[in-house]
Amino acid sequence: MRIKTLGVLLVTVLAAFTMLYWFTDEPRRAAIAAEHDAELLHFGEVVFSNNPDEPAAAGCARCHGDDGKGGPIPNDPNGRQAPSLHTASLAAKLKVNPAYVHLAVAYGGVVVSGNVNSPMPAWSAEVGGPLNVQQIDAVVTLVTGWAEAAANEAPIEVPDTPEAGAQVFASAGCGGCHGVNLEGGVGPALTNIGNEIGTGLPTEISGLEQLKADYKADPRKALEQWIRDSATNYNGGTATGMPPHPPEVLSDNQLKALITFLLTQTAGG
Ligand code: HEC
Ligand code: HEC
Repeated sequence: MRIKTLGVLLVTVLAAFTMLYWFTDEPRRAAIAAEHDAELLHFGEVVFSNNPDEPAAAGCARCHGDDGKGGPIPNDPNGRQAPSLHTASLAAKLKVNPAYVHLAVAYGGVVVSGNVNSPMPAWSAEVGGPLNVQQIDAVVTLVTGWAEAAANEAPIEVPDTPEAGAQVFASAGCGGCHGVNLEGGVGPALTNIGNEIGTGLPTEISGLEQLKADYKADPRKALEQWIRDSATNYNGGTATGMPPHPPEVLSDNQLKALITFLLTQTAGG
């Protein structure tokens, strides 16, 4: 009887340690997570495909092509094309709204173009589409990975023109603080930023004289340093109310066009 009790106790303790080991072992957990990701991606490929033998297949490939690189929409009377999903522009939309691919897939092309008659239907069962939550999650993971890989391959092409810069201003979210027409909001108005900088900043900065001097010497350089990281470059490392914009958020050529646009703003100057 005693021995039996001891035996049960020993087995219990051993089991507890094994479980503890299992759950706390970092590489093992990472391996499980990676396996889970791989399964999710694989399921995403199944959903994306047009494989008639797979009940879970949604047939995205019919329009977007087997590899997701775009193609003609079958039997479309207007000969329209479905876009490639391996694009930096899709990644840029994800930067503005991390839920973008999910929304576009769940609710359809109307999210993309505002066109309620878009050839891309809504897919989510929540709105009467054919796909359940697991299928949507898997295919969104797949497509998001394609877009991110594309963005890492080639920098977003932006011509150095005021028009392109105005688009960067809109897509980078500057207007949320400075007003869509640069009229000001949380941040100061930028309608005269092509003439001067640093007049009437809402929050005092320690490097104000430096900022003004840099602007006088080279307005592009000063704006670049301000927009990239105003805290580090002009406020001794203290936040200024204007968030930093590292190259992952704003590529060099996006920033260049943005500054070209800002320098055309010379109202009231
Ligand atoms: C009938 C053809 C068709 C099918 C099937 C289809 N799409 Fe689309 N898809 C389109 C078209 C066309 C657009 C562009 C929408 C527009 O501009 O109205 C689009 C747009 C998209 C976008 C947005 C791309 C961007 O750059 O903004 C994503 C993401 C997408 N589709 C994913 C999917 C997924 C995932 C599936 C399968 C579940 C799928 N599509 C099935 C035709 C299709
Ligand atoms: C979260 C809000 C916010 C966002 C987003 C934002 N800014 Fe600002 N910005 C500010 C604030 C606040 C200031 C004033 C800082 C101070 O008073 O020290 C400022 C200051 C500036 C100035 C200096 C203005 C002057 O008259 O001296 C420029 C130029 C500027 N921002 C450009 C931009 C651009 C371009 C973007 C987009 C890439 C952007 N900002 C995004 C809040 C923002």
